[in-house]
Amino acid sequence: MNTENKTVKFKIKRQITPDSEPFWEEYEVPWKPSLNVITLLMAQNTDPITNNGSKTTPASYDANCLEEVCGSCTMIINGKVRQACTALVDKLEQPISIEPMTKFPIVRDLMVDRQRMFESLKWVKGWVPIDNSSPVGKGPNISSEEQQKAYNFSSCMTCGCCLESCPQWSSDEAFIGPQAIAQAILFNTHPTGKSLESERVQALINNGLNICGNAQNCAAVCPKEVDLIGAISEANWQATKHIAKSFLGKH
Ligand code: FES
Repeated sequence: MNTENKTVKFKIKRQITPDSEPFWEEYEVPWKPSLNVITLLMAQNTDPITNNGSKTTPASYDANCLEEVCGSCTMIINGKVRQACTALVDKLEQPISIEPMTKFPIVRDLMVDRQRMFESLKWVKGWVPIDNSSPVGKGPNISSEEQQKAYNFSSCMTCGCCLESCPQWSSDEAFIGPQAIAQAILFNTHPTGKSLESERVQALINNGLNICGNAQNCAAVCPKEVDLIGAISEANWQATKHIAKSFLGKH
């Protein structure tokens, strides 16, 4: 097949400042084998000219690992929230539509402020509390079954797909969201992390755990197939036990 004149058509939703009006720009670049959406954005940045020949500015976007590990390149591509680095051009209908996520404040163009996600990890103390100041010896054994479960939760890359798709979550509302709930469960399952279980569960209760409406969109879009439904169910069970213990004065 002659691919010499083959091109890729795409459009980007631009927004120059957090408060300015968004607008679309369309582009057309030469096709090459194995292009992904990040390579389209790189081409636009190198030669920022729209498909009607007007000079424009390079579109801003976040990306880092380029292998679906860091989550920073999450955006909406042809209407679906996903990572741009693994969105292969040959598998996408053209013109490819590229938009920023809608639930996070816009910084510029495709860059959004994902700070709320990282804050929510602080609320649930998403860590194992050891200070490493002195040798603590061998840690407790963790069964293979527990390791498998923890591995699944630990593959969360804080990308934001679950929050973007959740009808109950937005960056300025009460619901903490599935990503932080899953991380609370991850660290509550760890033999050492467990020491902060009560504080984590209280943080989930204080931050709208009960607001989840069980839409299950989060699990459907998670690129790492994290068991978000299982995590929410486990969190609700831990919250019920926590409230019962408080009622009985056992905290
Ligand atoms: S650049 Fe890291 S997930 Fe895409």
